[in-house]
Amino acid sequence: MIIAANWKMNPALNVACKLADELSAKSFQPLTRILFAPSPFLLPVSACLKGSDILLGGQDCHQNDSGAHTGDVSAAMLRDCGVSVVLLGHSERRTNHGEKSSLIGAKAQQASAQGLKVVICLGETLGERRAGQAEQVVIDQLRISVPKDMPQDQLIIAYEPVWAIGTGEVASLNDIASMHAAIASELPKIHDRQVISRVPILYGGSVNAKNSASIFGIDNVDGGLIGGASLDPMEFETICNSACSEISRL
Ligand code: PGA
Repeated sequence: MIIAANWKMNPALNVACKLADELSAKSFQPLTRILFAPSPFLLPVSACLKGSDILLGGQDCHQNDSGAHTGDVSAAMLRDCGVSVVLLGHSERRTNHGEKSSLIGAKAQQASAQGLKVVICLGETLGERRAGQAEQVVIDQLRISVPKDMPQDQLIIAYEPVWAIGTGEVASLNDIASMHAAIASELPKIHDRQVISRVPILYGGSVNAKNSASIFGIDNVDGGLIGGASLDPMEFETICNSACSEISRL
């Protein structure tokens, strides 16, 4: 199980360091925890996480290794800041920055070449779900966003219905189960190589302390990508505890 905190463009630096200190004070092993911090905070947060088992993550990277790309961050720069995982194709990047799956695939290629693990986000809009296209949209995103030759042990998928992100609305347990099953059965077809390990599939979108246990109990749900609730240390700890209970149940 993996629990990833996506801080997005939050919080202030002093709060970020306090939160990182609190998170690193406890171990939840064998649970894997990832913290996706804002780029300017990667170095100070990395210092706070020193000696803890939390992996530091970047929220995006450029598809090129270097060059004239004002405001962008390369995968190598992330790595130099102590990052080992990068989040790519989050719906806020797809929507606000017009990122297409082909670009996300190129970014994933670059990140993987730099030795980073990659969390690729997929998800349908409410309109697409109402039109009965949710699965097709998500599987198309998956096929294009995941490089065919990417080592499987560097890949993590996050299914996040766009309409569930930051809204307090969560997909039904049945809908989560069927989308995760569809992703799990498509993944082996994408890779050129023989499947050697199962790629973890996280659910994201309004996961909180109350609903996390039931979501993590669904087949093919290997953890969560947590936005708003990851900024509250007590709430986040409860979510991590739900994931730990699921690990001991398996
Ligand atoms: P949320 O965000 O938990 O606030 O819905 C999840 C995400 O955007 O990764």
